[in-house]
Amino acid sequence: MTLTTTPNDVLYVRPCGPLQGTVTVPGDKSITHRAILFGLLAEGETRICGWLDAADCRSSLRLAQALGAQVRHDGEDLLITGTGGRLQEPGDVLDCGNSGTTMRVFLGPLAARVPFACLTGDASLRRRPMQRVADPLAQMGAHIHLRAGKYAPLSVTGQPLQGIEYRLPVASAQVKSAILMAGVLAESGETTVVEPEATRDHTENMLEAFAVPVTRERAGDGLILRVPPQQTLRAATVHVPGDLSSAAFVLAAGLMVPGSKVQVLRVGLNETRTGMLRVLERMGAHVQAENVNRLSGEWMGDLTVTAGMLRGTEIEPSEVPSLIDELPILAVLAACAEGPTVVRGAKELRVKETDRIAAITAGLRAVGVQVDEAEDGFTVYGRGVIPGGEVDSQDDHRIAMSFAVAGMASQRGIAIHRWSCVGISYPTFTETFTQLGWQA
Ligand code: S3P
Repeated sequence: MTLTTTPNDVLYVRPCGPLQGTVTVPGDKSITHRAILFGLLAEGETRICGWLDAADCRSSLRLAQALGAQVRHDGEDLLITGTGGRLQEPGDVLDCGNSGTTMRVFLGPLAARVPFACLTGDASLRRRPMQRVADPLAQMGAHIHLRAGKYAPLSVTGQPLQGIEYRLPVASAQVKSAILMAGVLAESGETTVVEPEATRDHTENMLEAFAVPVTRERAGDGLILRVPPQQTLRAATVHVPGDLSSAAFVLAAGLMVPGSKVQVLRVGLNETRTGMLRVLERMGAHVQAENVNRLSGEWMGDLTVTAGMLRGTEIEPSEVPSLIDELPILAVLAACAEGPTVVRGAKELRVKETDRIAAITAGLRAVGVQVDEAEDGFTVYGRGVIPGGEVDSQDDHRIAMSFAVAGMASQRGIAIHRWSCVGISYPTFTETFTQLGWQA
């Protein structure tokens, strides 16, 4: 395989020989964002080991500093001295870049504690829906103004908030987290969030690690969560596991490129995130997990895959929250499998960094794979081969990386236009593949 970037931001990926070896992947993005926010809010110094140093988490770090956190580096670790819950008024607009998690999850604490702040982001983030967080926060007493009633730029003036009971209309960990964080910093009243389908629970795990009690009650397929108001977060050490959403690209390449065997060490295995592993098993892949243990409230372990035949499968709507960020790479795997793979109940993909249903179907067609688009998903007609061609990432990091992996397993190679967006979550993507046997 050859990975080459050119000044006009195109990556050419040729078909490659077997990938072999053991790698680590960068830290979990969701956990790093939360650790930075918790560090800002806590009393004392928070140490973050294994944090993701990539553009999205740098946006959270920038916000934390503008809001009063003192940030230091100690070797590979990030040290954050928090404000004990008091947030300083930033002197300028807060730029969240491409990061939906930064904008949405920070908005909860800001609504409770910042004198005044304006938040904006890049063109993609300014197109993404923000009422889903502003509405419940407004019910708690927040003063938030959105552009056109829906979008960033937005402004927030901190108010004494009251706890609410809120049923999530969309399965979103970002919305849940914003409400829970506003709830623990509220002036009065317990906050209850009812989630019809379980979404990633890193916020709940981290609240417990920072000495805030969270009550979790199972309710059907979902959960009822409760947090008390007026809490003080106590600084802690956070060990960030490798990001399963990044490991997904390595595992997929290991499964698709004939003759490959790859291992990824210390990957996060929180069960609200491992839907892809269950789908891979159904597709006939053997994924071996070893050395599984729990650190900072999060499960992690080493994963090994060996290339082999894959078959198509159906991904159920109820599985979608546990693999939402892996659907682009699962679509590529489905193209390499035999038989159709059907994804439904994934309408949320339309409001990610780009409209991912449109980006996946356009990309697959551009490389010679037959695919049908639905409003809430897609069907990939797997034939065991990906011919090759040219794809536009649409500046979406996960689309870019998914098609890079497709290129490795393709017949003629794939050129990915607008490649540099991979810096959002995985700046060392090409280095990882070099370690697995890529030669320039
Ligand atoms: C995230 C939650 C998910 C996910 C995103 C990160 C988080 O978004 O797609 O990449 O860190 O809470 P939604 O909450 O919008 O589903």
